[in-house]
Amino acid sequence: MLPRAAKQSLAVSPAHSFDSTTLTEAEIRRLAARFGSPLLVVDCEQVRRQYHALRAALPGVDLHYALKPLPHASVVATLRDEGAFFDLATTGEVELVKAQGIAPERCIHTHPIKRDSDIRDALRFGVTTFVVDNPDEIRKFVRYRKRAELLIRVCFRSPTAVCDLSKKFGCEPGAVLGLIEMARRLGVRVRGLSFHVGSQATDPSKYIEAIQACTNLVAEALLAGLPSLDVLDIGGGFPVPYTDAVMPIDEFCAPIRAALTKLPKHVRVIAEPGRFIAAPAAIAVSTVMGKAKRDGRWWYYLDDGLYGSYSGQLFDHAKYPVAALRDGGELFESVLAGPTCDSIDVIDDSIALPELEVGDLVVGRMMGAYTWASATDFNFFKRAKVVVMNEQPVDAKRVVRLQRAKRVAAG
Ligand SMILES: Cc1ncc(COP(=O)(O)O)c(C=O)c1O
Repeated sequence: MLPRAAKQSLAVSPAHSFDSTTLTEAEIRRLAARFGSPLLVVDCEQVRRQYHALRAALPGVDLHYALKPLPHASVVATLRDEGAFFDLATTGEVELVKAQGIAPERCIHTHPIKRDSDIRDALRFGVTTFVVDNPDEIRKFVRYRKRAELLIRVCFRSPTAVCDLSKKFGCEPGAVLGLIEMARRLGVRVRGLSFHVGSQATDPSKYIEAIQACTNLVAEALLAGLPSLDVLDIGGGFPVPYTDAVMPIDEFCAPIRAALTKLPKHVRVIAEPGRFIAAPAAIAVSTVMGKAKRDGRWWYYLDDGLYGSYSGQLFDHAKYPVAALRDGGELFESVLAGPTCDSIDVIDDSIALPELEVGDLVVGRMMGAYTWASATDFNFFKRAKVVVMNEQPVDAKRVVRLQRAKRVAAG
């Protein structure tokens, strides 16, 4: 038996609140009864909150939401209405923003390695800014030089980030001027620089190092008589609290703001946040579909797992706060497993739970980023159905309700 304090529980909100982080147990049960299981409940109000928190922490920086962590129309539409910009990496993402009526001027294409068809599809939509990090990629733009402009992605290795994205992409800072010179010879315009310090960054020091290096490169390009660099893209990476606390976003961004003041005034600064906006905006609801006692411990088999919404545990190295919607009784060290026949499909092999029954619900929080997006239908277990809440801003809904109430009162 484990101490009672070991149990994680969902925050309980006042009745009728409709916010994914504070949905009551009864509300979650109603959603599961209505829409089935497994579910991913996406809360657009939380998307708004996260977007505005990062805007406030990085004033003057245009935020391009990176679609990859949660490429869902409701998130794109919500951010469209809040005035956000978008970061695309594939033709599928181009199609998604196009379907939501986003103007192409609000989008950039940041995949450093592209097929010609990816470039053509983005250009046909009207995107003109692309990211490259090597000579072969620059050569791909010779035929599009009248329509496309480039950002050079620079690598800043970040062994402390949970996902070090500079391992796979980016050129060394020392190679940047040579690439700009080469692009100039080919008639391709380089507009600026970009970097990504790695996803779920543990502290802001890598951003500072990268901003300082890019500030120097902007000055060196000018001295070398190269075309002026007027864009700096500081990427994504902003962290969120899963099972461990992280620095509050304003504190995290304070030294980044200070470093950005050293850039020449003509440089437009943009960022590509994904996780920070998407992760807190969804919960995953699954159902116990079977149970068995093995080696003295209860194993609970859910209808969602590592091949589904919990795929981020493998691909994204994330550990989500998970709790069962069953209160009371002793807590026992238990195993939560996914539904597939693969033995790797285990969400948690040591979690404190009361004894669960078939049909009980299990809820994972902070599950908006790199979860449903990387889910599969292995074994023909369907990916979680997405349920969207708060598509209208909460205040707007209040206005609509008030107007309705007034109309009713007026007869
Ligand atoms: C090019 C690029 N931009 C933005 C992001 C989003 O990063 P994050 O979710 O850490 O904010 C990623 C993540 O892989 C990326 O590869």
